[in-house]
Amino acid sequence: MDFENEALRQKAVIAGLRERFDKEYEKTGRKKTYCCVTFGCQMNARDSEKLSGILEDIGYERVEDEDADFIIYNTCTVRENANQRVYGRLGALKKLKEKRPGMLIALCGCMMQEPQVVEKLRKSYRHVDIIFGTHNIYKLAELIHDRLESGSMIIDLWKDTDKIVEDLPNRRKYPFKSGINIMFGCNNFCSYCIVPYVRGRERSRRPEDIIEEIRADVADGVVEVMLLGQNVNSYGKNLDTPMSFAQLLTEIEKIDGLERIRFMTSHPKDLSDELIEVMSRSKKICRHLHLPLQSGSSRILKQMNRKYTKEDYLLLVDKIKAACPDISLTTDIIVGFPGETEEDFKETLDVVEKVRYDSAYTFIYSKRTGTPAASMTDQIPEDVVKDRFDRLLSMVQEISADVCARHTGQVMDVLVEQINNQDNHLVTGRLSNNTVVHFPGDPSLIGRIVPVYLKECKGFYYIGEAQSIGEEVNG
Ligand code: 5AD
Ligand code: SF4
Repeated sequence: MDFENEALRQKAVIAGLRERFDKEYEKTGRKKTYCCVTFGCQMNARDSEKLSGILEDIGYERVEDEDADFIIYNTCTVRENANQRVYGRLGALKKLKEKRPGMLIALCGCMMQEPQVVEKLRKSYRHVDIIFGTHNIYKLAELIHDRLESGSMIIDLWKDTDKIVEDLPNRRKYPFKSGINIMFGCNNFCSYCIVPYVRGRERSRRPEDIIEEIRADVADGVVEVMLLGQNVNSYGKNLDTPMSFAQLLTEIEKIDGLERIRFMTSHPKDLSDELIEVMSRSKKICRHLHLPLQSGSSRILKQMNRKYTKEDYLLLVDKIKAACPDISLTTDIIVGFPGETEEDFKETLDVVEKVRYDSAYTFIYSKRTGTPAASMTDQIPEDVVKDRFDRLLSMVQEISADVCARHTGQVMDVLVEQINNQDNHLVTGRLSNNTVVHFPGDPSLIGRIVPVYLKECKGFYYIGEAQSIGEEVNG
């Protein structure tokens, strides 16, 4: 397939469908609607923006509830409960579709890359119209076209791909910030994780494509970007002209009008001194690093195939804190990996105590079919895991409340994101270190960076007061 021209080909399909939908609209006077439900991580959220772009270019109008002409679930499969939620909601959709015969139901994303899932859907969920995976989301218009022509279930799944299709439609969720894929896939094969099987091998986008996308976003009002990849620290290794992640960041920093740069996720084994250096002297790279620990036990880390020890991790954290003293660290931790003993678990608690994370996402180990950990003997009983999980969570919360409060009384820049959900006299935004701040303000502030006096910390967020620039704070 000629991937350079693939975007053009898809645009032609979109135009064809648009014409067809416009004609229907002339007859019915009613626009068709779509509802896109996203499960899982920021990578999926970004994919959903691309799916929305295609659907809106075809002529669908977005609605938030599922009583729509086109419903798409962008699924996650990182833990089993994500799959259960999809099956549950699909069951409910069946009744909705009976009442609304023209309705189309599409499923895509990580869960669809698992053959046993697709088998189950094919047999027991015949009301699904279109199934595709993670590698071919750019084809959505073509799949809709094929479904309308054939009248039968369309399944289009690729095991992997080494190609990236650029320049497709897109609808950003926020006018002032955007997610930018810098790479796709993962080569790490952590033994518990299904991502490398469902997202394929690592591929980096060309730096010029990334920069061009960010420039266009900035010209369109974006001030903050989140660079996305399963392991951003190994960016650029497979490019024709290899480039490091730190070098990419240095180039992105030069973009005028761009104020904040975030990135996610960093694998500790690949976090270079060069990156720490670039972060420490940057004015734009946010003071936040998400550095998944997974376990504090070197023995378990080996079983997990993480390729670092507890000591390596702690050393890395020391280096980062020395270079960027105001950095916020967050992490992911799995409890109850096969063979985890009380001693192993205490090593995890020890790291949490030493690092003092701003926040930690804690997960109960979930067995994923096909991963090496799924066939390990010595799976941990549920009650033991639950007890450890609760103990970890309370330690994380206690430390987090303390750590988050460290800027009380200071004035810091907040990027205002929205009107507060509970009180419309307040606006809600984020500090560079990602902590949430609520303060009195109006919608005109949305998308702007405002200096805010951080009056009071309430656990994991602040209540503040906007400062006019140059105003001194007393006390
Ligand atoms: N069970 C529990 N948590 C998992 N994660 C990945 N795979 C599993 C699993 N099988 C967690 C890891 C990862 C985060 C995105 O999800 O902590 O960093
Ligand atoms: Fe999964 Fe490990 Fe890759 Fe992260 S680095 S996506 S945990 S395999």
